[in-house]
Amino acid sequence: MSGLVGLLVGLVLVGSVSSAKFDELFQPGWALDHFIYDGELLSLKLDNYSGAGFQSKSKYMFGKVTVQIKLVEGDSAGTVTAFYMSSDGPNHNEFDFEFLGNTTGEPYLVQTNVYVNGVGNREQRLNLWFDPTKDFHSYSILWNQHQVVFLVDETPIRLHTNMENKGVPFPKDQPMGVYSSIWNADDWATQGGRVKTDWSHAPFIASYKGFEINGCECPVSVAAADVAKRCSSSGEKRYWWDEPTLAELNLHQSHQLLWVKANHMIYDYCNDSARFPVTPVECLHHRH
Ligand SMILES: *[C@@H]1O[C@H](CO)[C@@H](O)[C@H](O)[C@H]1NC(C)=O
Ligand SMILES: *[C@@H]1O[C@H](CO)[C@@H](O)[C@H](O)[C@H]1NC(C)=O
Ligand SMILES: *[C@@H]1O[C@H](CO)[C@@H](O)[C@H](O)[C@H]1NC(C)=O
Repeated sequence: MSGLVGLLVGLVLVGSVSSAKFDELFQPGWALDHFIYDGELLSLKLDNYSGAGFQSKSKYMFGKVTVQIKLVEGDSAGTVTAFYMSSDGPNHNEFDFEFLGNTTGEPYLVQTNVYVNGVGNREQRLNLWFDPTKDFHSYSILWNQHQVVFLVDETPIRLHTNMENKGVPFPKDQPMGVYSSIWNADDWATQGGRVKTDWSHAPFIASYKGFEINGCECPVSVAAADVAKRCSSSGEKRYWWDEPTLAELNLHQSHQLLWVKANHMIYDYCNDSARFPVTPVECLHHRH
């Protein structure tokens, strides 16, 4: 009997679920006077005086974070709006969405990057199949022991697979905070920095809603060495992101990713032999 109970308990999936208003999960990081917050909708303002940014109150290991963003309308050239997860310190890990603005009517670019142990240089760039300035769209990062998946409206746009068995380090030992910000990056963002921010069009406003974090929360009081244990499934404790079905993309998602790569990707570091005469190892073994 107790064996049966144990089995049933073992099948219960755990994971701290948080889906909440901005201020339950996040706090302003800088430039509070550039926040416009009405309880449901948050807007961040960039002008010639300052940008603005926010961060999660807690750090997390594994799970999924989602936010709905409506990017800067009209002329957004020179501006960058970022949504990312990052750990702290010189050997930090980071998963980035960076939305690079453009002149009115020209497409936003989405740049993604993955830092592992302090090393990035894994940029991919794509355009989107919709105008991200007209409506809110959801941008998510799914992270478990097997993969990091970047999703736009639940369509995977990037897969970073765990290839530790091929000697490639994978981020899975540092809790990460969740961040977003808007700032002026007209030295590089738009058409390689050729188009500058036109401040006569300021303020530039990015809006947010639908904040969701569904992961293993790591209070600062938990020692680093205990975090990995706390956030791994073991025995009766099974986190939803450790389910076998989430160890890789399903067939439908694999097809979606291929479609994105074929139709929307305009730069992939894996493909840049001028920059990387020796192809990065994770690119060689890529299944897609
Ligand atoms: C901006 O628009 C130009 C022209 O369509 C395009 O080449 C470029 O990739 C777009 N995005 C950025 C960030 O420069
Ligand atoms: C910022 O922009 C405003 C409006 O265009 C202008 O009046 C002001 O002088 C600018 N300030 C700085 C520091 O450039
Ligand atoms: C990859 O490289 C090929 C050959 O140089 C090029 O035609 C293609 O556009 C590149 N694709 C991406 C996504 O960078």
